[in-house]
Amino acid sequence: MNDEMAALRRFVQEMTRLAGSASGEAALMAGARPLLQRLIADDGWLPQACTRAHPEFYQQFLLHCDPLERFSLVSFVWGPGQRTPIHDHGVWGLIGMLRGAEVGQRYRVGDDGRLQPEGRAQRLDPGDIEAVSPTLGDIHQVANASLETASISIHLYGANIGAVARHVFDPATGAAKPFVSGYSSARVPNLWDRSAEIRNALAGAATGSVPSPGTA
Ligand code: FE2
Repeated sequence: MNDEMAALRRFVQEMTRLAGSASGEAALMAGARPLLQRLIADDGWLPQACTRAHPEFYQQFLLHCDPLERFSLVSFVWGPGQRTPIHDHGVWGLIGMLRGAEVGQRYRVGDDGRLQPEGRAQRLDPGDIEAVSPTLGDIHQVANASLETASISIHLYGANIGAVARHVFDPATGAAKPFVSGYSSARVPNLWDRSAEIRNALAGAATGSVPSPGTA
């Protein structure tokens, strides 16, 4: 049996080590990027429950939150044509494209207090990674590039992003309004049931009987 959680568990373990050994936005982002790159190189690990689009709202499924809230990992699922409001994050974030494609437009607050597009819209395809942070530029709007199919990106943030007080912006006036995103999911994937892995090891080592699931 395949251990579908292995890739996600490895990411969480390596990211936890990084959070314990590095500090500061630049070092954490530099260390986290290759970890996210490897995670999104293959999407066989993403649990089905974290891939489901909602007909009306884009979804934010929490995959893992560090117990010390130093980072969180979220599966963003965009239904056809869905988009975020213009928003900020307040912490660093890395966005890794997994399935489909999305388009992001960055903004900055101009001298007159209004929002101005910063550069051109950027398209993310599977394997691409985009960075946001208060230092690099923190205001953007993200949309599914497709009007027909769902898209999924995996977001890594330098905090428990669902509990961060941040802002959405009125596109016409630039007025900022506080918001907190929360998460779409009531449950997170079970990273720690490693029984399949252990059972496989036992099956390889033993010539006799192997305990079946649920055997006490
Ligand atoms: Fe964002």
